[in-house]
Amino acid sequence: MKAIVVTDEAAGTAGMTLVERPEPEPAINDVVVEVHASGFVPTELTWPSTWTDRLGRDRTPSIPGHELAGVVTALGYGTTGLSVGQRVFGLTDWHRDGTLAEYVAVEARNLAPLPGDVDFTVGASLPISGLTAWQGLFEHGRLQAGQSVLVHGASGAVGTMVTQFAREFGAYVIGTGRAADRQKALDFGAQEFVDLENDALEDAGGVDLVFDVIGGDIQQRSAGLVRAGGTLVSVVGPTEARPADGLAVDFVVESDRAQLGEVVRRVRDGRLRTNIGNVATLDDAVAALNPTERRKGKTIIHVRPSGLGDSDRSCPPRGSASAARPGR
Ligand SMILES: NC(=O)c1ccc[n+]([C@@H]2O[C@H](COP(=O)([O-])OP(=O)(O)OC[C@H]3O[C@@H](n4cnc5c(N)ncnc54)[C@H](OP(=O)(O)O)[C@@H]3O)[C@@H](O)[C@H]2O)c1
Repeated sequence: MKAIVVTDEAAGTAGMTLVERPEPEPAINDVVVEVHASGFVPTELTWPSTWTDRLGRDRTPSIPGHELAGVVTALGYGTTGLSVGQRVFGLTDWHRDGTLAEYVAVEARNLAPLPGDVDFTVGASLPISGLTAWQGLFEHGRLQAGQSVLVHGASGAVGTMVTQFAREFGAYVIGTGRAADRQKALDFGAQEFVDLENDALEDAGGVDLVFDVIGGDIQQRSAGLVRAGGTLVSVVGPTEARPADGLAVDFVVESDRAQLGEVVRRVRDGRLRTNIGNVATLDDAVAALNPTERRKGKTIIHVRPSGLGDSDRSCPPRGSASAARPGR
């Protein structure tokens, strides 16, 4: 099969190469999926799991990409819950070969059915950003309706999902990002925007929840904005700061079939818009994953022609809403 591999950690995405690899065999409780579309998070090549297995042994050449939408072609020994021919989407194991390939072996429990009216390109854009947002807000952040959330990187892949879920749940959302991100963050539902290049972050005032995708100094200063009993949730490694009277949580997203179902249900009924920027074929993936311009959304690699589709981008923007901010 055709696959993108990496062998050189120092080379980053520039070190990706398109090669021929053996097709994977399904292990116990696995399925093999014919990948139609694949999602990739640019920081993946800095994660230890891209380079070593669970015992710390070198596993290169490894195939990156951990989000997929495709069709089940084989079941492993003992696998239940999915069938050959079924459309699926989900998140693959960090320590195993990933989805920038024509086929991938993945535990069935990490996948959910992909409804027939959601195209593969959209399906591949949802697992990491959708599940990260869901778990950060509702499991780790214990968000309550009426609370306020400071969403860093609000126009990015995770941030646009966080904003939309938080708004649907009845929270007040202050997005942050670069100056150029303001309108996009507002279009995805942020009610205020802090331009981190020109505004004072501290002017955002007190919030109940900070959702951090940036880290460093921004995270440290954000901890001081968390109200008593609130939470700083980070997805960029161990937190460097803790709210004076609140919690700091960092986590790595896990696959969850029921939550994948919640995410895709919202896409189908128009409550959730995806944030897809560039779509490229597997043959063009190395160039697409090394963009010369700033990314405008998630890059999706279209492994098979049937992955094509742009139904997500035809959804109308939700616009910025005017609800009052609670407890400022
Ligand atoms: N732990 C987990 O389970 C988990 C899951 C998903 C993602 N993540 C991590 O979360 C981070 C975000 O992922 P993503 O997919 O949402 O990335 P993304 O689509 O690139 O979004 C990040 C956004 O934040 C902006 N940003 C970053 N640094 C900034 C700064 N100093 N000032 C203003 N804006 C800034 C980015 O702008 P620029 O593009 O201009 O920098 C971009 O708009 C990544 O580090 C990723 O590895 C972790």
